[in-house]
Amino acid sequence: MIVSLRINGEEHLVDPYPDATLLDTLREDLGLTGSKKGCGTGDCGACTVLMDGRAVTSCLVLTATAEGKSITTIEGLSTGDEIHPIQQSFIDFGGVQCGYCTPGVIMMTAGLLADHPHPTEAEIRSGLAGNLCRCTGYSKIIDSVNAAALLMEEASE
Ligand code: FES
Ligand code: FES
Repeated sequence: MIVSLRINGEEHLVDPYPDATLLDTLREDLGLTGSKKGCGTGDCGACTVLMDGRAVTSCLVLTATAEGKSITTIEGLSTGDEIHPIQQSFIDFGGVQCGYCTPGVIMMTAGLLADHPHPTEAEIRSGLAGNLCRCTGYSKIIDSVNAAALLMEEASE
């Protein structure tokens, strides 16, 4: 079964096992190892990517069901040589510590800010409720998301 996926702007044809998840395909077939496998059961958020602009846990998406979808992974978030404002904000505000959760948190943030460009703290906490982080205590992640929203607003002016 050949599946066509548009990943980070490029077309890919993959031939997954019937039960292969999108996370398996990204990491094992395409070498995109930025998305992490924390749990494999939809509970940690480390595997979050954007699918047609919406954040999804890629460990719960069968590759076969992603036929024709547009996928953005952490590797495709920035364009050109500059990192994305969300990535910069996480660096500047301490939202990255060990980094294991970070790709998933950043991709979830990208989905959140697409829907809520000026999120309240409650919206940030709710939006990131499915992303587990063992290091930051979450407050630095909240600060990073707020800073990212401001940076992205400035960049769009
Ligand atoms: S690896 Fe997908 S939610 Fe944990
Ligand atoms: S920075 Fe270590 S798990 Fe989040």
